[in-house]
Amino acid sequence: MRGIPVYQAPRGTQDVLPEDEKYWRYVEETAVKLAGQFGYGLIRTPTFEDTSLFVRGVGESTDIVTKEMYTFEDKGGESLTLRPEGTAPVLRAYLEHGMANRPQPVKMYYLMSMYRYDRPQAGRFREFNQFGVEVVGDASPGVDAEVILLLWRFLEALGLKGLTIQLNSIGCPRCRPRYLELLVHHFTQHRMQLCHDCQRRLEVNPLRLLDCKNEQCQPAILAAPASADHLCDDCRQHFVDVRGMLEAIELPVVLNPRLVRGLDYYTRTVFEVYPPVEGAQAALGGGGRYDGLMEQLGGKPTPGIGFATGIERIIQNIKNQGIAVPEVGKPFLYVAYLGEAARLPAFELADQARRMGIPTVATLGPRSMKAQMKLANNLGARFAFILAEQEIEAGTVTVRDMARSTQWQEPRASALEHLLQAKG
Ligand code: HAM
Repeated sequence: MRGIPVYQAPRGTQDVLPEDEKYWRYVEETAVKLAGQFGYGLIRTPTFEDTSLFVRGVGESTDIVTKEMYTFEDKGGESLTLRPEGTAPVLRAYLEHGMANRPQPVKMYYLMSMYRYDRPQAGRFREFNQFGVEVVGDASPGVDAEVILLLWRFLEALGLKGLTIQLNSIGCPRCRPRYLELLVHHFTQHRMQLCHDCQRRLEVNPLRLLDCKNEQCQPAILAAPASADHLCDDCRQHFVDVRGMLEAIELPVVLNPRLVRGLDYYTRTVFEVYPPVEGAQAALGGGGRYDGLMEQLGGKPTPGIGFATGIERIIQNIKNQGIAVPEVGKPFLYVAYLGEAARLPAFELADQARRMGIPTVATLGPRSMKAQMKLANNLGARFAFILAEQEIEAGTVTVRDMARSTQWQEPRASALEHLLQAKG
């Protein structure tokens, strides 16, 4: 028909198809399991929030806020934004539900979709999914170490190999201003060697210069002072303690003095995880401490730390590394029938099998037996039940072992029992 466009998923978004279900289930179920083992509870926040939550929380000068937010006015004139990240919404929920009155820290995890209007490329989407955690209400270095440990154990449980955790400390409002002065002083001396973006960053967000991937800026970045060398006594001790605990459990942590994060709320510990082949968009996850964020959002000073991982990137790495994940969605039983008299008995038998806990697919309309067996094979069913005139008259069923290509007749009740045992 003319005039109807060829619809496609919007740029930067993707459909997850049934053949990928096993990867999603594997990653999400592993996340739920690990979060449970570490004592975290699930939180889900709305897909959109007041725009100002992210402007205040993530930071006015960040790429996320200046370029990447999906912001719209609703019909009541409110400015709303599709969440680009989960930390500010979780803290908003902590405040709104008076979670300060619960035993501290409050440990929460989420599996949520995020939205950033970024330039789509490999591993970078406009809609993507995160598994993340937030621990609110405890400033101890042990919390930092345990959050990083959880991230590591999660990726390890998935079977991913060759990953590295990069770690840094970017100080606190007490020591950072002095460090920023040093940084600005350093980069001002190298101003002419910096890319256009970095010359602008020098004015608005000098820390972000350290994160620039532009070749041209690398010499100045390599020579820049490191935040970890300019920490106040408290921040230095905190960093020593975190590192000490991570070393004790032998996590492969690499100190990266240039690691800064793309969101403004971080204090002290920051970290990212990279796969073996590093690309510009390769971080599988990242996070850090955000001890000033609660105040920023109108609450009492309350420390917090967390991380988020990108599920699409993790799945891509699972595929790249050829990790075998458990199959899902295969029926154990296929119920085939031939002839009108067998149609209802087959429908009923399939229902009975499912109610006994046997995943079952059934033929629902007339088809040749050859076509039905072919389908049963393609679906990967272990057994088929065949009901035709003969079986209906005898009150039996023909059971076919699809792998061995053997078959026999049995009363229906015992056939179901045997199947249940075979399924284990
Ligand atoms: P983030 O570093 O912006 O941190 O995102 C975390 C992870 O989400 C990244 O490492 C990456 O795997 C994935 N990710 C980010 N952007 C995209 C994208 N456009 N396409 C695909 N994957 C992406 C945060 O979001 C913080 N809220 C993490 C945090 C939690 N910090 C403290 N608590």
